[in-house]
Amino acid sequence: MSEPITKVKDVMFPRFTAPDLDVVETFLTDFGMQRAARTDTALYMRGVGSDHHVHVTELGDPGFTGIAFTARSAEDLETLAAAEGLSVEPTGEPGGGSKVTLTDPDGFRIELVHGIEELPEIPIDAPQFVNDAYAKPRLGIEKRIRADHSHVKRCGHVVVNVTDFRRSESWYKQRFGFLSSDEIYLGDENLVVAAFMRCDMGPDTYVDHHTFLCLGAGKPEFNHAAWEVCDLDDLMRGHDRLVEKEYEHAWGVGRHILGSQIFDYWRDPWGRTHEHWIDGDMFTSEKPTVKYPAESALNCQWGQPAPPDF
Ligand SMILES: [Fe+2]
Repeated sequence: MSEPITKVKDVMFPRFTAPDLDVVETFLTDFGMQRAARTDTALYMRGVGSDHHVHVTELGDPGFTGIAFTARSAEDLETLAAAEGLSVEPTGEPGGGSKVTLTDPDGFRIELVHGIEELPEIPIDAPQFVNDAYAKPRLGIEKRIRADHSHVKRCGHVVVNVTDFRRSESWYKQRFGFLSSDEIYLGDENLVVAAFMRCDMGPDTYVDHHTFLCLGAGKPEFNHAAWEVCDLDDLMRGHDRLVEKEYEHAWGVGRHILGSQIFDYWRDPWGRTHEHWIDGDMFTSEKPTVKYPAESALNCQWGQPAPPDF
């Protein structure tokens, strides 16, 4: 493949539509986000990290619009716009900044953003030291976990089902420089239907095992989005809060095989899957792509297998 037009540094937020922003805000608050801004027609939710928002919902019929990826530089927006015959525009949204808006092969709206205002991080309870059988850093300190929702720090990855995996893989890699951490095949090793893709930040910078994943499911659809929370206790107290509020649980808690993260999947009031995760693998650009058969790769190392409707 030729050199990509840009190399993104992360995903910033997925963009949804929903008919009731109050209901969205209540769910996302219980999920562990906070309001960053709200207009007459859109809701912008943040985590405790510095991103101005990590989730956007516009008023409308329930749906998924697309994904915003974070550019490394303002120049990258100019480069992408020139390559696509488009313009760099102001986002026109809270937090400001600039964007280039593309349409992917399945019609998802994909934004490359830069210069959106950063917010001061929100302090949380100090991360808790964990004593295990071999190392005991927590000495003379009681562990007391305050009942609360989880605390989302940032958006970690977004997964979409696509019509044609190779077509979409090539489209995203060409524009955003993704590298495949792992590929998934069905039966024959040549029948690759999905790839866990990470950002290419070079050989010295570790990034998440996956930031974007497209899955050749034959039909374009939102699959899920995932937000990193603070630690295992934070994930588990958030689980309890979502149980207490009677939201629909989708899968977890467990530890994935590919990416290794501890996960917990929930459905929002319109059935869209929102994941909490912690403790994922980190790699530089040096990691080679590995192929795995779907039946063994997409399950978990511990925890219950995925339910049939997942
Ligand atoms: Fe995930």
